[in-house]
Amino acid sequence: MAKKKYKNWNIENDDNNITWLHLNVPKSSTNVLNELVIIELDTIVNELADNIPAGVVILSDKESGFIAGADINEFTTFESEEAALTNIQRAHTIFNNLEKLNCPTVALIHGFCLGGGMELSLACDYRIAEEDSSRLGLPEVKLGIHPGFGGTVRSIERMGSLAALDLILTGRNLKARQAKRAGLITYAVPKRHLVTAAKQTILKPPKIKSLPWWEKIMNFRLVRPLVAKFLVKKVAAKAPRAHYPAPYAIIDLWLNHLDNRTKMLEQEAKSIAHLLVGKTAQNLIRVFKLTDQLKGLAKDKSVSIEHIHVIGGGVMGGDIAIWCALQGFTVTLQDQRHETLATVINRAVKLYKQIVKQPRLVKAALDRLIPDINGNGLVKADVVIEAIFEDAEVKCNLYKEIEPKLKRTAIIATNTSSIPLEQLTGALKKADRLVGLHFFNPVSRMPLVEIVVGEKTSKKAQQVATTLTRKIKKLPLPVTSTPGFLVNRILMPYLTEAVTLFEEGVPITVIDKVALNFGMPMGPIELADTVGLDICLHVAENLAESMPITVSEHLKQLVSKKTLGKKTGKGFYEFKKGKLVRPKEKSNYIAPADTEDRLILRLINETMACLREQVADSKDLIDAGIIFGTGFAPFYGGPLQYVKDRGQEQVVMSLENLEKVHGPRFKPDEGWKTIVIE
Ligand code: NAI
Repeated sequence: MAKKKYKNWNIENDDNNITWLHLNVPKSSTNVLNELVIIELDTIVNELADNIPAGVVILSDKESGFIAGADINEFTTFESEEAALTNIQRAHTIFNNLEKLNCPTVALIHGFCLGGGMELSLACDYRIAEEDSSRLGLPEVKLGIHPGFGGTVRSIERMGSLAALDLILTGRNLKARQAKRAGLITYAVPKRHLVTAAKQTILKPPKIKSLPWWEKIMNFRLVRPLVAKFLVKKVAAKAPRAHYPAPYAIIDLWLNHLDNRTKMLEQEAKSIAHLLVGKTAQNLIRVFKLTDQLKGLAKDKSVSIEHIHVIGGGVMGGDIAIWCALQGFTVTLQDQRHETLATVINRAVKLYKQIVKQPRLVKAALDRLIPDINGNGLVKADVVIEAIFEDAEVKCNLYKEIEPKLKRTAIIATNTSSIPLEQLTGALKKADRLVGLHFFNPVSRMPLVEIVVGEKTSKKAQQVATTLTRKIKKLPLPVTSTPGFLVNRILMPYLTEAVTLFEEGVPITVIDKVALNFGMPMGPIELADTVGLDICLHVAENLAESMPITVSEHLKQLVSKKTLGKKTGKGFYEFKKGKLVRPKEKSNYIAPADTEDRLILRLINETMACLREQVADSKDLIDAGIIFGTGFAPFYGGPLQYVKDRGQEQVVMSLENLEKVHGPRFKPDEGWKTIVIE
């Protein structure tokens, strides 16, 4: 093959007449299948077809891996469904031509091989993956779409219907050995054998195995509707069709077109083009980009953190220490009570066994988590995380006691959920070392950490807190040190409105159902019970001083009776062995028509107030914080994106109507007059 200069591909012919296609997308640490990569591949494949080599190997020159997927930035640029379809059909033609090349083709994989990258590899005859680093999958469903470059058809051919549909519908990644067992790849080999394995495969191509007969049963025309019904039921339990059309489109594609390969490929292209320009996909792509934006905040490479000292081993401090040790940090955990430290270690054993499984790794993580009743770890700590009682005076006394023992560069990160940092800095000689690191409960599952930046917080303390958050695989969101910060502040009006609805006689199951139908992951009443009614009451009382929320008498009574929710077995709901017991619904009860707006628009109105007051730096960051901090229905792309899609004027009008009927708590925030959500 003639040597040509391509921007993304480097072509090498070896002595065995094997062509090695090295992908190396310039100015990027990861390979993505952008338009130019695909156009260049078209020319290359056509030339190869004219001048056929002994074999072709496609590989990546990037350390990070093979190909991370299609270029997500291009997903939002299509002007119409037709434009998207044309683009996808072009990729189909190129992948089909690659598949038809009259010589053995190998994808030589290391690291990430996802989405479009996985689909490219599936168009090759063989896939050989490095056994340790490889992560393979078709995660498109997480973006509200499905594989679109022939991946649905080819993955089913290689893995069988059930395994392929499971991979596509869950969007999960497989390690190399799992992928080999599932039939997704041909070989999983150690790094040192990769090149030899590719050469040998080309020079002596093994027979491509067809699926065993029992796998083919699932493909029968008469069996498929039954399987499809089961799959739809399973999907519907997690992702309602109205909000998440992609998984249903995947099942339909398989159900209706599996018998005709060409037709299924055509329909795959049409289906993804349709999904791509739809609201759900565009919003989920937005959420994906927001994640990247939050990750990008931890860019200061000079920050070095080795030792973390956590003070307070209760619900939060204990879990924070457990999580930080799991992520590789040496953590000393201090509490005033021995028993508390022992409980934390028991909790750690349980969680580590669930997450890392291998006893060697469980032991290593436990070795890093050191109970430290006397606080000996303080002198070595780079970061001190304080998670003691929510009492400004108690916290101040602690700071006075510990500061003289700290390294000059150490920062103090408080997990306070409601105390402004300005009430705490007075206790410190070096006030700029105090920053908020507001984790959410349960720590192991909540992705967001608010980085609370007070008036005196230094840039360095902020950066250390942000870097630490990323290092423990959480998403950092810088917020101002104002009451409730961002997440609790917008959640509280939503939760108190839910309690008001309950007090007006709307059944709790109905209130929760309205929120679930809107797309929330959990209803507000169940959420309050899960967080703990004492904590809700505490935050509500705190915030009631600065915002128009009324603290419910009923809530106060429940708390005074120690009816605190899930943790005590009873709150608004009853819990049996930690599981919610849903009371029977009155079949003829119809919720007031404005129930959804009452819940959602209170949250949205408060979001506008946060935007106006610049609690976080931008609309995007506010949307990101609310999605990752509260689970706000991600397919809306965040509350502010929801306002854009529903229409700002429409939202304000609805608030005004609610204000007329239900009073001043619905008064549209001042920000609606001056800020346009674009
Ligand atoms: P907790 O009451 O479960 O734990 C507090 C722990 O601190 C206790 O084990 C206590 O023995 C220990 N402690 C108190 N004073 C101490 C001292 N001087 N020296 C050493 N240990 C001391 O409280 P929780 O719920 O873990 O809250 C801790 C902090 O986290 C609070 O500031 C709270 O506002 C905040 N927070 C709580 C959330 C929650 O859902 N519980 C969520 C986010 C933040």
